[in-house]
Amino acid sequence: MTIVEACESKTNTTPDFPMGWYSVERSHQLAIGEVKAIKVFDREMVLYRTRSGKAAAQDAFCPHLGAHLGHEGRVVGESIRCPFHGWQFNADDGKCSHIPYCDEIPERARVRTWHAEEKNGEVYVWFHPENTGPQWGLPDLPELGDPDWTSPRYTEHLVPAHVQDICENSCDPVHFQYVHGQMSVPESEVTIDPDGRTMHLHSHMKDADHPGHLHATTYSPGFAMVRNTYGPGAEMIMYNSAQPIDDGQTLMRWTLIVRKEIEDFAGDDVMKGIIDGLSDDYPIWANKVHRRRPVFCKGDQTLVMFRKWVRQFYVTSQDQQEIA
Ligand code: FES
Ligand SMILES: [Fe+2]
Repeated sequence: MTIVEACESKTNTTPDFPMGWYSVERSHQLAIGEVKAIKVFDREMVLYRTRSGKAAAQDAFCPHLGAHLGHEGRVVGESIRCPFHGWQFNADDGKCSHIPYCDEIPERARVRTWHAEEKNGEVYVWFHPENTGPQWGLPDLPELGDPDWTSPRYTEHLVPAHVQDICENSCDPVHFQYVHGQMSVPESEVTIDPDGRTMHLHSHMKDADHPGHLHATTYSPGFAMVRNTYGPGAEMIMYNSAQPIDDGQTLMRWTLIVRKEIEDFAGDDVMKGIIDGLSDDYPIWANKVHRRRPVFCKGDQTLVMFRKWVRQFYVTSQDQQEIA
């Protein structure tokens, strides 16, 4: 078994994130030749776009003397050049391809490369603590770019909580009453597809500002689509992809679209309502702890389902011990 190398964060904490796809940037915010320092999975990383247009995500610290490649590093063709002594590392495998003052390249001169893909306007990185390849693909979002829907509106929200706790909200109909001010708990149902991985929540929001049906599809923790239907032709989609920065901070990237039929008279209100909803959740997330073993009551079936579902995204407890 491959043992996970020490986590490359300044605090050197153990990574403990569910495997899956996570967004690290909007595609349009990463130009050719652009280099960014990012933090994700409690690791410092460098994100850049090569001259051929490929997005690359790699561990940030140069194997030579440890300079951060995301600060003043330069794209050179299909590689990144360290700002300190000019060593160059390939975007595709992280191997050092060039040392400007030496012909011999040490075997271990390599940076860890994360599997990155672009889809639906975002750059995604596949996370698995052992850095194995993707076990499933990124879902399509056919409504993005469909002329019956508005062009996307983007918002980003930095939330002071672990990615799993934010995701858990989508299986928590009770909190709609207490946190989001509904008159009662909406009638809700949680189902899981035969693949065991894609989870759905259906809620009938009778007492909401905009009554309707909510369908949240969660593809993996931190990757979800919420479709609100208020009536025929009156629909809104919120596409949410998360960047787990560390175990207490998550950056959420939301992409919102509404059907053209309601754009003029309700589009802005609907989108504002969704964004405002986040401020209801915020104080809870900012102050809560993560309970690994919560005390559940009989009315918590959807939350119990969520906790069982989410386990598949973590490596086994034996792996966890070896990581630690
Ligand atoms: S630290 Fe990167 S080349 Fe020296
Ligand atoms: Fe909420």
